[in-house]
Amino acid sequence: MEKCPLNDFFSPAQRARFLEAVAKRRSVRAYRMGPDMAQLSALHFAAARVCLPGVRIVLHDAEPELLFRRLPMVGGISGTNKYAAVIADDSVTPRAALHAGISGEAFVLEATAMGLGTCWVASFRKNAVDIPLNPHEKVLAVTPLGVSNEVSSGRKRKKLTEICVGDPASWPLWAYHAAECVRQAPSAVNLQPWRLAYAGRTLMLMKGGVGGSALDLGIALLHMSLGVGDKPHEIQWGEGKEIASLIAEDEA
Ligand SMILES: Cc1cc2nc3c(=O)[nH]c(=O)nc-3n(C[C@H](O)[C@H](O)[C@H](O)COP(=O)(O)O)c2cc1C
Repeated sequence: MEKCPLNDFFSPAQRARFLEAVAKRRSVRAYRMGPDMAQLSALHFAAARVCLPGVRIVLHDAEPELLFRRLPMVGGISGTNKYAAVIADDSVTPRAALHAGISGEAFVLEATAMGLGTCWVASFRKNAVDIPLNPHEKVLAVTPLGVSNEVSSGRKRKKLTEICVGDPASWPLWAYHAAECVRQAPSAVNLQPWRLAYAGRTLMLMKGGVGGSALDLGIALLHMSLGVGDKPHEIQWGEGKEIASLIAEDEA
């Protein structure tokens, strides 16, 4: 089985910061203002630090009404011109789009930890992205960046039992926490297109239900790895609907 580059990519301090940010992150669509200069330089640093092979995250400016498409049911994006683009190149890196989900969510969680709002947006106007791209690069998603002007609301999520095969209450605590952390993850149209199964020290992340872009699944994989906390583990890629497996080290 092929090892996932997420193994040991983030430091324990980063992982602890991301895990704390998971509980705070919500999609923010109305902003009071963009990030200040100090936040912008920290965001530039984070964008460079979180990128796995085949991924670039670039900060740029655009009028929100030109860049973001307005979706039915959710408000449009307003109040900040600053955004980040999540760019992938799969010409040399297999699974670059999954890497983009992992790195993009790590960036979103860094921004959350700085007190900033974000919102993954896949429905944007490509011609409004004024960033020079290499021939094989694609902008997979963008996120506005700024100070939220919203009152944080509760999360709508499926029950844990709906996204788990078997009863997660009978799993070891680390696997239960990892599944709960996946449950908190953002997904396009909130479809939560994942399933988790546990057997013999292994927690498997699978594509489930409708939807399930590589971005959604990369995001879920980062959440799964954060949810195990400091339990030593290794992540291996799967094939087809089996995205990846997290194998916990045996207790000494
Ligand atoms: C890959 C991806 C694409 C998304 N695209 C859009 C979008 O185009 N427009 C939008 O308003 N929200 C978009 N979202 C945000 C989701 O609607 C949101 O994450 C979901 O409803 C869960 O809400 P929460 O992020 O507040 O937990 C996207 C989320 C993901 C992960």
